[in-house]
Amino acid sequence: MYEIVRQLEEKRDGARAGGGPKRVEAQHGKGKLAARERIEVFLDEDSFEEWDMFMEHRCADFGMSEQRIPGDGVVTGHGTVNGRPIFVFSQDFTVFGGSLSEAHAEKICKVMDKAIQVGAPVVGLNDSGGARIQEGVASLAGYAEVFQRNVLASGVVPQISLIMGPCAGGAVYSPAMTDYIFMVKDSSYMFVTGPDVVKTVTHETVTQEELGGAITHTTRSGVADLAFENDVEALLELRRFVDFLPSSNRAPAPVRPSEDPVEREDLSLDTLVPTDPTRPYDMKELIEKVVDEGEFFEVQPTYAGNIITGYGRMDGHTVGFVANQPLVLAGCLDIASSIKAARFVRFCDCFNIPIVTFVDVPGFLPGTAQEYGGIIKHGAKLLFAYAEATVPKVTVITRKAYGGAYDVMSSKHIRGDVNYAWPTAEIAVMGPKGAVEIIFRRDIGDAGKIEARTEEYRKTFANPFVAASRGFVDDVIMPHSTRWRICHSLRMLRDKKLENPWKKHDNLPL
Ligand code: HXC
Repeated sequence: MYEIVRQLEEKRDGARAGGGPKRVEAQHGKGKLAARERIEVFLDEDSFEEWDMFMEHRCADFGMSEQRIPGDGVVTGHGTVNGRPIFVFSQDFTVFGGSLSEAHAEKICKVMDKAIQVGAPVVGLNDSGGARIQEGVASLAGYAEVFQRNVLASGVVPQISLIMGPCAGGAVYSPAMTDYIFMVKDSSYMFVTGPDVVKTVTHETVTQEELGGAITHTTRSGVADLAFENDVEALLELRRFVDFLPSSNRAPAPVRPSEDPVEREDLSLDTLVPTDPTRPYDMKELIEKVVDEGEFFEVQPTYAGNIITGYGRMDGHTVGFVANQPLVLAGCLDIASSIKAARFVRFCDCFNIPIVTFVDVPGFLPGTAQEYGGIIKHGAKLLFAYAEATVPKVTVITRKAYGGAYDVMSSKHIRGDVNYAWPTAEIAVMGPKGAVEIIFRRDIGDAGKIEARTEEYRKTFANPFVAASRGFVDDVIMPHSTRWRICHSLRMLRDKKLENPWKKHDNLPL
């Protein structure tokens, strides 16, 4: 017995030591935490239960039989975040560069399988040199096993990837299929082919950071959702983030009762929208003023800024916010913002999170870049996402709701449950100037006539009453009352039941 216990302790120490003090020091030297340290920061204190600490690779080629480190480069198991169960795997760069062997993949698959069964999120802390080169196709098979589980888990449990080191080649496709990707600035990167291959094939000179760093993916490609300064900030924000989410598609999001009264009114909202219709304002101010205690967790804040997406709570319950941002491209919908918001809406719908939409949209962005880029299909993604969503949907039109974009932005016609308009709302096929230049083309050149026609059009449509008279808007509300109007609507909708017709799955325009 004593001998077994001694062996156990020895093996545990071996696993905990990872690739040894030198490699751990090197990891720290790069400003990165070790795999277990990351788990400690992320999970509730002492909540981590490690699995498969003694698992080893089975490779005998290239001298690998002499190099066996218990755990094989990934720490897996489960613990809690604010008391709720969560599964985690954390790749250990100090062990074979965190590369993925067959055994390493099996460990990841085991936690994913259990997470799906019990209904708890999976968080991956990625820091890996990719496929374990010594294992060849066995490693590729391991990746595919993980990919398959990413797909099966999609829409069942939230999956979040935090990239904290290299993530290259086909290895990027596991994070890509998870719901959210967070990255750490300067120490993480993601690309399908690295700078050397890029140089050979396209003759472009580009650094790792430029090609696939956190800034690149959160500002240019939109692959990642958030970039953080360092490991600790990323892990603590990830804790805050998962607290907004339900554990699975079978569980409600945690309720966090707040001191912020539901009935709170904010008079400053009455002057948020400028009288000049061409002047922008910050839509984020509206979100922050209506949400519980002003706490808004924005996702993709630096990508497609013309639309805002993120989570907050109202009356203690998680809500997903989608809002046009007049400060960027006048709040127009374009390819990037449509894809960004569509994915957000679909995530909310998968996990039963109600959606609140704030609308100030002059339409779709014109131009050859947009048309050649496929705005027709990409814009349709957002329309499709809203139209198929069965979660409670509350919409508030603050100013412009023009053209197709009016229909898209959670309008009554695509099953918006409660649709409000502020008195400043303008709901029409297009803005007054454009409209008059088309329907009164013969008067162009006569400035007086055009001005009179524009005024007539403005009087007719630059208000919420035409839509309200048809029942397309349920009520015209004062801006200061927005918080409690939304809270009351969401309370009323809490037990909403709505199902789409049976289908194998839909055919979202891709
Ligand atoms: C086995 C690996 C490894 C790998 C790194 N190591 N990557 N071992 N398989 N893929 C080992 C190194 O031998 C080294 O071991 C230790 O990890 C640290 O690596 P270094 O190179 O010293 O670290 P660093 O200088 O920081 O460079 C990190 C790196 C580099 C950029 C990730 O190691 C690298 O380029 N590795 C290969 C990346 C790669 O081509 N992977 C396959 C991609 S294709 P010692 O013992 O010296 O500490 C792929 C396909 C997936 O992943 C397909 C899915 C469908």
